[in-house]
This record gives sequence, structure tokens and C-alpha cells, in this order.
Amino acid sequence: MKRACVIGWPIEHSRSPLIHGYWLAKYGIDGTYTKVAVRPDELAAFLDTLGAQGFAGCNVTVPHKEEVFRRAAHREASAEAVGAANTVWLENGRICCANTDTYGYMAYLDKSAPGWNAAGGFVSVLGAGGAARAIIYGFLSAGVGEVRLFNRSGARAREIVQHFGPRVKAFDWDDREVRSRDAAVLVNTTTVGMKGAGDLGIGFHGFNPACVVSDIVYVPLKPALLKAAEAQGLRTVDGLGMLLHQAVPGFEKWFGVRPEVDDVLYARIAADIGA
Ligand code: ATR
Repeated sequence: MKRACVIGWPIEHSRSPLIHGYWLAKYGIDGTYTKVAVRPDELAAFLDTLGAQGFAGCNVTVPHKEEVFRRAAHREASAEAVGAANTVWLENGRICCANTDTYGYMAYLDKSAPGWNAAGGFVSVLGAGGAARAIIYGFLSAGVGEVRLFNRSGARAREIVQHFGPRVKAFDWDDREVRSRDAAVLVNTTTVGMKGAGDLGIGFHGFNPACVVSDIVYVPLKPALLKAAEAQGLRTVDGLGMLLHQAVPGFEKWFGVRPEVDDVLYARIAADIGA
């Protein structure tokens, strides 16, 4: 029996067991995927005994992503780029980590908006947290020439520019709409719009019709930003697909099967969200 889990504090809200449980059943794997509440002061002991507890690895959520990154013996480039990890596995007893948000975002963008980069050009990223870093790393790795970064707090945006170098440029938060009209992709990585709270104030008037608009907020499944983009005829990419795709690499590491994000899984998690 193979075992994996998701750790966080609190952990009750996590939908990861639904995702991995679906794949365990679909592929007939003798395994479990559970939630484990780990207090910050318990994290070191938890990681030290991961294998002894019978776990092949785990997902990591708030507030442990940075500390797990620091404690890992081996870090994939994705984790280095973000400075945080969401996926852990053991190799010869050593803790290895990755950040699969980059993969999750880019895989779903490629799948649901093929040709998003056909005309080259720049992309616009709203927000400067860990998710923004993961997505910026994805765009840079995909060969995007310029990433325009807009964040309410300019200091955090400038830290990211320093980290990734000159292909990332920080702009004033107030210019997020006017400077994004010709973007290949505009993505919201802020928490604005989550559970319907707040409004990014972008109407998409005068946007290039080829612009793809995406939002990593998935509660609700269609935040106001995506509704506004749709109203202007733009292609949109929701946040649920990223959540599902980011789970793929971990499942493969722990259980030995590369799982498919299929329509049944999407519908099941969408139903759980209440979409
Ligand atoms: P994560 O690491 O999960 O991506 P985070 O570090 O909590 O998230 O970052 C949240 C992002 O949402 C930040 O970019 C934050 O902007 P600041 O850096 O200025 O705090 C952004 N954010 C949250 N509430 C916002 C609001 N009301 N308006 C604009 N941006 C907001």
C-alpha cells in the first residue's frame, strides 16, 4: 500500500484528497491520500519521519511551503524559482521538493488556449505573491519576451524583477488595464475576486481580440474578471484547471502512474466548489 498526504495548518479546506482519491480509484491503485494537520512547530519532525510514517511523499500548503523548501535536501528548478515548494517525495531517504504550480498553470493554458503565444509579444501578470512567481517562471521558460508585472505594493513587484531579471518589468498598479491591451495573456494571481470579494476594475474595452484572460481564483469558478473578459469576446482560462494539473506530477512520483485530468474529475471538483 502506497501512502501520500497533504499537510497544512489548517488543512480542512483542502480539495487535494478529492483529486488524488479520484485518480487512485480510476487507476485501481492500492494507495491512500489523506489530510494531515501539521502545526508549524511540528513540521521539522513530520518531515524527518515522513518515510517512517509510511508516506511516499506529500503535498504542502499554507503555511509550510517556504519552510519545506528551506529544509529539502534537493530542490527542483521550479521550487528554486518560486522559493517555495508544494510537492515532496523521498529519494534514498532524502526530502526532495518541487513547485508544480508552474507546470499546472502552463499545462492548462496550453490545453485550453492553444496558440496563446502565437503572435509573441508580452504577457501581463497581476500580483506578486508565490503564485505570481510560479507563473512568471512558466512564461519565461516558455520563451515569452516580456512579462509586465502589476502589483498594489510596488516594493514586492520590484523584488520579483530583481529575482527574474530584465525580461520582467514592474509597472504601476493603476496602469494594469491601459498597459495590458496588447497582451498575449493577462493573468490575475491576486486574491481579488476570491469568494466574490473585491473587483480588479478591468473592463477589457479596446483589448486585442487575441488576448487570453486567465484567473487563478477558482472559487467562484467564474470570477468577475473572466465574466468581463467573456463579455468582450475574449478567450478565458479558469483557475480550476491549474489546481487539477498541478496535482499531476506529485501523483506520478508517489503512485507511479501519470494521471489524466479528465472531464469527470473537472466536473466533480467543480461540483464541490458549487459551480
Ligand atoms: P500567494 O503567495 O498565494 O500567491 P500572497 O503572497 O498572499 O499570495 O499574495 C497575494 C497577492 O494579492 C499580492 O500580490 C497582493 O498585493 P500586495 O503585494 O500589494 O499585498 C494581492 N492583493 C491582495 N488583496 C489585494 C487588493 N485588495 N488589491 C490588489 N491586490 C491585492
